[in-house]
Amino acid sequence: MTSTVAIILILFLSISCFALVILLLGKRSKEHMSLRESKTDHSAREVGDFYNAQTDNFLKVYGEVIQAFRTTDVTKLLDYQIETIGFEKGQRVLDAGCGVCGPARYFAKNAGVQVEAITISEDQVEKSRKYIAEEGLEGKVNVTHGDYHELEKYYESDSFDAVYFLESFGHATNHEQVINSAWGMLKPGGKLYIKDLFIKEAAIQSLSDDIQREVKNINDAYRYNIADLYEVLKFVRKKGYILSSVKTIDLPLEDFENLTISNDFQDLTGINKIENLQDYIFPVDFFEITCIKPWNALEFGNSRYFLQNLFYMQMHNRKQEEL
Ligand SMILES: C[S@@+](CC[C@H](N)C(=O)[O-])C[C@H]1O[C@@H](n2cnc3c(N)ncnc32)[C@H](O)[C@@H]1O
Repeated sequence: MTSTVAIILILFLSISCFALVILLLGKRSKEHMSLRESKTDHSAREVGDFYNAQTDNFLKVYGEVIQAFRTTDVTKLLDYQIETIGFEKGQRVLDAGCGVCGPARYFAKNAGVQVEAITISEDQVEKSRKYIAEEGLEGKVNVTHGDYHELEKYYESDSFDAVYFLESFGHATNHEQVINSAWGMLKPGGKLYIKDLFIKEAAIQSLSDDIQREVKNINDAYRYNIADLYEVLKFVRKKGYILSSVKTIDLPLEDFENLTISNDFQDLTGINKIENLQDYIFPVDFFEITCIKPWNALEFGNSRYFLQNLFYMQMHNRKQEEL
């Protein structure tokens, strides 16, 4: 009799414990979900207003190159970008999210490219035009006010050798639309280059919520929509780009500025000020992605795999029969 009672008691306790665990897990995953769901979704107009209000402050702290992942001597970063994007003299390139055309003007002067630049901020357009005139770069750098989600509204299709995004892509409301819009702008063989911050992968599960929270803080503070690397790669491949490289940015450590510039900006504006750096979870990684719009359109077959093989054959001067 006593043993029956004991068994019932044990069973009851086990079921209660199990139910409690399920309840707690459910609550935790709901919290997790709500952080993910609170992913910020700023309209292009909001981003434009942010830069209209903040560009003077960016100029004070960052100078005319508004990128957080940078070298102390910023020309080293821009030279690296000339090399990595692979600009050739005389090429026509599109700077999507151009700031005050700091990079665009440098590339025009030092790589001999002709730059069309676009920004969503009216203030940046005005400042860019002033700098372009001061440096006698009219005709070499041309700036347009507009939204890079809809590049086809402003430029002719298939007319650029490269479309590049330097810490600007992550502001997009719709990353896939931006990737597709850039495709329309590129000549066959043209390059898409994205340098940006991407949500960090949590090394241990318990850090995941902290990362999401900090990502949200950055998104809110800077009107950003930090991208998920895997999602971006999916969009790129879905569109049919040849994925040429995904890598961390290869700047020599001694040249690297260690992101103190972001802290200076936070000190000046109070935006997203990190009170306790000791406990701060750095929630992003910086990567650069290079893609190529294939030369051969879909009449060669629907398979992306096949297109990529064609690309490699062309690179190595091999014949189709060798496939
Ligand atoms: C961090 S700044 C980078 C500026 C510039 N690439 C540089 O290196 O100095 C981000 C830029 O992206 C632009 N941007 C953000 N969303 C945009 C959109 N939807 N269309 C066009 N430009 C946009 C902003 O106006 C701003 O110029």
